[in-house]
Amino acid sequence: MADILSRIKNKDSELVELVEVVEEESEEQILLPAVNELQTVDAQYRQIMFFYESGIEQITAKLQILNNEFKFCNDRNPIENIKSRVKSLESIVAKMQKKGLPLTVNCMMKSLHDIAGIRVICPFISDVYHVANMLINQKDVEVVRVKDYIKNPKENGYRSLHMIVLVDVYFSDHKSQVPVELQFRTIAMNFWASLEHQLRYKKDRNFTEDMQKELKECSEIISEADTRMQKLANQIPSFMDGDKR
Ligand code: GTP
Ligand code: MG
Repeated sequence: MADILSRIKNKDSELVELVEVVEEESEEQILLPAVNELQTVDAQYRQIMFFYESGIEQITAKLQILNNEFKFCNDRNPIENIKSRVKSLESIVAKMQKKGLPLTVNCMMKSLHDIAGIRVICPFISDVYHVANMLINQKDVEVVRVKDYIKNPKENGYRSLHMIVLVDVYFSDHKSQVPVELQFRTIAMNFWASLEHQLRYKKDRNFTEDMQKELKECSEIISEADTRMQKLANQIPSFMDGDKR
């Protein structure tokens, strides 16, 4: 981490502004966990990351409990796996520069909603909505934004359910609402998105129209398979709800 920081610091002196503002603004505007003396860039970055990691831990624990409960009642897991990450400082700085935003912590926290990110992979489409609904029905989780790319896929064929939530996290002397970006997908949607990401996403590769068409067709084949698997699941009694309770 120190290495990343020093690389970015050397490359981009504006980072100093990004971290210095923590000291100026943290008391009145930003509810970061308490740290008395923020002296090094490294300590300041770790504090910000700790804030977002705490949000990830809180949501992950909730998801794991929902997964375990469902397994207990229905003998299968509605979550295949959960991946999470905190956006690297390098990506934060790059995204803010791309958006033409001032490099301040306050601005970063207001404008970037995907600093804490969790991807939840589910076997079936119904699991995606079931798990997402169970999570957002909890009163310490507030939904800020939903983008349903399953009902309305992106032009290129991308499918997922995206949500930005604020989750309550209790620190030693205060409670904060930590923003977390959630992406819910089926295994099939994840297969397409992972491969498409490697092939194309945010890369300046020359992708011809035919190639784009081919990718979109693959997405449709995958979506059809997902729907057919869902229909199979729908034929099995007690597959979705807790009949075994
Ligand atoms: P970003 O600035 O990219 O975060 O976009 P946004 O704030 O409009 O968010 P959106 O919910 O549309 O997408 C955010 C994230 O979803 C991306 O960072 C990717 O992880 C994923 N994503 C969105 N579109 C695509 C896509 O076309 N292909 C793949 N593989 N992933 C995508
Ligand atoms: Mg993003």
